[in-house]
Amino acid sequence: MKITNSFFNNCYLRLCILRLNTYMVLLISNIRGLIQVEDIPKARVQGRDMSVLLTLPDAYLLIDSGIIAGFGEMKNLPSDIYKRPAEKIREIDASGKFVFPSFCDPHTHLVWAGSRESEFVDKIRGLSYEEIARRGGGILNSAKLLHSSSEDDLFEQSMKRVNEIINFGTGAVEIKSGYGLNLEDELKMLRVIKRIKESSPLEVRSTFLGAHALPREFLNRREDYVDIVINEMIPVVASQQLADYIDVFCDRGFFTVEDTERILMAGLKYGLIPKIHANELDFSGGVQVGVKYGALSVDHLERSGSEEIEALKGTGTMPTLLPGSAFFLGLPDPPARNMIDAGLGIALASDYNPGSSPSGNMKLIMSLACIKLKMLPEEVINAVTLNAACAMGISETHGSIAAGKIANVFITKSMPSYEFFPYAFGSNLIETVILKGNIIND
Ligand code: NIG
Ligand code: FE
Repeated sequence: MKITNSFFNNCYLRLCILRLNTYMVLLISNIRGLIQVEDIPKARVQGRDMSVLLTLPDAYLLIDSGIIAGFGEMKNLPSDIYKRPAEKIREIDASGKFVFPSFCDPHTHLVWAGSRESEFVDKIRGLSYEEIARRGGGILNSAKLLHSSSEDDLFEQSMKRVNEIINFGTGAVEIKSGYGLNLEDELKMLRVIKRIKESSPLEVRSTFLGAHALPREFLNRREDYVDIVINEMIPVVASQQLADYIDVFCDRGFFTVEDTERILMAGLKYGLIPKIHANELDFSGGVQVGVKYGALSVDHLERSGSEEIEALKGTGTMPTLLPGSAFFLGLPDPPARNMIDAGLGIALASDYNPGSSPSGNMKLIMSLACIKLKMLPEEVINAVTLNAACAMGISETHGSIAAGKIANVFITKSMPSYEFFPYAFGSNLIETVILKGNIIND
């Protein structure tokens, strides 16, 4: 066929018509409370501002082509909205219901094989997380299970968890490697994370965590393993563009501050920004080393005092608390109140993993943060939306209801107030999930 200008013009016209035909505006009307609205978007909130939550009563939200196009009070709903042909607008009446920006979950290990409920029973019988790890359980147990799983099987198992957290209201998630512990298996995990990125509606960020535990064959040769992470793993992971961030488990019995510094410096050469596992088991120096290397977040922080809080002040590093793992392992609670009172912001994450937090339910995390960490409902909502987006480097596009941001939201069931949401800690109150403007669970 001879290709002419008019052929191109025709095609262009047909494409435009096609786009116009599929052009669909989603209007959520009569919302009892539209949560976390922003006229001028912020990167994060800190200190006293954490208890400020802008909520619009009797509101509407307009979504166009996957983007938040507008919002306001019902009395100000543009009247021409109903002039569109009926097939080009879909309306959801949210009377009695609340609309939240989807959760961002900035710390998970949701790609894993099998399960570790036998260690759960060991813990009930009195063994600690560290004792189980020393016996070759824990992370090494997951590494063994992952090694014998095919990549497809690992993907299938992980997608079940992805679909589960979508229904729990999560719209963006960070996922770490770290159950491979050798080049081949770490790459297998990272490729699975990449497939999740490409095939799920979630916004995904990927973190390389080669230094998660010392493989058995490197016992008493920790530095040799760190050399492999630096010289063999990081360059390949970076050249295959399989990671956005880099992590180290900087804690007693795992990796030292010196190991962490070496790994972070090596990662930074390839543009891998740090996110650190710090101060879970001891005052490990992980917070300070994370801050020194410009970490996006330092996570866990069960063992934190005034020195750690001082180190975090005035930095861009987000303290990210994981109350699910503190609860599951019976660890001391991280000092959330002291942090907020000192002017810091806080993000919350699920730490979804088979050993210390086998739940990716961010609503439950909110309840635990209220009950155990004494955070106010407004503070936890900020911590799982805006600040969590900041802890995964996506607050320009996620984490609040602001014009131009990605339309990741969920509609609750009927409820009397937003405080009811973390209060009713065992109830599923999420009714409709909308990701990138599409209704997921219609
Ligand atoms: O964040 N603390 C280190 N890593 C995970 C646990 C991983 C596991 O036990 O499988 C955590 O708690
Ligand atoms: Fe973790």
